[in-house]
Amino acid sequence: MNPVKSATQATAEEASRMGKQTLTIIDNRTGKQYEIPIAHDAIRAMDLRQIKLNEHDFGMVSYDPAFTNTASCISRITYIDGDAGILRYRGYPIEELAEKSNYLETAYLILRGELPTKQQLAEWTYHITHHTFIHESIKKFLDGFHYDAHPMGMMISTIAALSTFYPDAKDIFNQESRLKQTWRLIGKMPTLAGFAYRHSLGMPYAYPDNELSYAGNFLNMLFKTTELKYRPNPTLERALDTLFILHADHEQNCSANAMRNVGSSHVDPYSATAAATAALYGPLHGGANEEVLRMLLEIGSVQRVPEYIKRVKAGEFKLMGFGHRVYKNYDPRARIVKRIADEVFEVMGRNPLIDIALECERIALQDDYFVKRRLYPNVDFYTGLIYQSMGFPVTMFPVLFAIPRTSGWIAQWEEMLLDPEQKIARPRQVYLGEEQRPYVPIEQR
Ligand code: ACO
Repeated sequence: MNPVKSATQATAEEASRMGKQTLTIIDNRTGKQYEIPIAHDAIRAMDLRQIKLNEHDFGMVSYDPAFTNTASCISRITYIDGDAGILRYRGYPIEELAEKSNYLETAYLILRGELPTKQQLAEWTYHITHHTFIHESIKKFLDGFHYDAHPMGMMISTIAALSTFYPDAKDIFNQESRLKQTWRLIGKMPTLAGFAYRHSLGMPYAYPDNELSYAGNFLNMLFKTTELKYRPNPTLERALDTLFILHADHEQNCSANAMRNVGSSHVDPYSATAAATAALYGPLHGGANEEVLRMLLEIGSVQRVPEYIKRVKAGEFKLMGFGHRVYKNYDPRARIVKRIADEVFEVMGRNPLIDIALECERIALQDDYFVKRRLYPNVDFYTGLIYQSMGFPVTMFPVLFAIPRTSGWIAQWEEMLLDPEQKIARPRQVYLGEEQRPYVPIEQR
């Protein structure tokens, strides 16, 4: 892992090329002037603290609900240019990785910073494949859930439970231990997901098959019935693997931030991953793909799309799968997903909901409401259609996001742990509540 450069540490070359790298602030309340260093287009929020009304003043903080303009870390993992619609892992464009790589290789890249050699990839794949089994007691937890329990709820609980099976995971500053938990987490996520799915159907659990690929084995644990050897359809296996690549990381989103935040308390990575999975579950994040499908079913026909869009514009509800905090252009993943959808439909038959989705997109992309707000389809808009065609129930959609995102979460967690500038995450608040007041006895209220 590369050493992390300080945010205020612009190189001498950068400084001389770009002129004086400072920001001058005049506090009009006091007339005082402050000069604050700039590095990489950022100032340090702590540099604002010196701006005070008087010596008893705490000092100025920056107020940024929902972190819309706050960089909480320096990262070298994923680059997004939301205006240009660019996504790269460790410098490699998502389009190239989707076409040429596979999920486990991409996971290695995200975690290690470089593409693996043949031997490194073989070892990496071997270790992950040989950590796919889960302790038999985990099955007992699953058995305790109702048949209609949401699989994300089962995932969150069983991922957290893994921490009790691997107390060695607490040794977070031990590189060897971190690597082992990484193999385990990436290896076991599909198993937990497969078991959760089979539990909801009341079917016997299907155990991992080490001869299959990562995606192929996952399909095996979901769909294997009486056959002695499950053989995944190669088109569907590749489609799923490519979707895994697209979902592997997305820099400082809600769940990555949860992973870093919870991990900053130095808890074990299973507990932090359970927290990240919980963050992903929400309908504004990884739960959106599930909501998209429900929405398309509710719209019901192409003819009813204009009426639905009218109601979205009236503020009744959101057009799920549209809009993004960072992308103000077409999400590059959505383009690739559209292509995968065609490939899957060729095998499984065309999903009739695609016509409703295409009509939503067509109308939205030329409607002033969406154009002005720069709302484009995000990755979740088309993935649900693919998952449904492949035979996944809607409740499994966010699970299909959580499995590949695990590599990104661990990379974000490890980068946070090894960054000497990071500490326990603990934001400030602007307190607008009551001043001190005396306690009122209950008879006098
Ligand atoms: N449909 C209709 N209007 C929308 C939508 C939408 N999907 N998304 C945003 N808007 C509107 C907002 O109402 C707001 O309008 P206003 O300025 O008139 O108040 C404006 O666009 C800006 O939207 P914000 O909510 O401020 O944008 P924010 O960055 O906070 O939210 C989010 C991003 C959560 C993704 C939002 O666009 C949304 O809820 N989309 C639908 C859910 C979804 O698809 N989530 C998946 C995101 S991708 C992922 O996590 C994998």
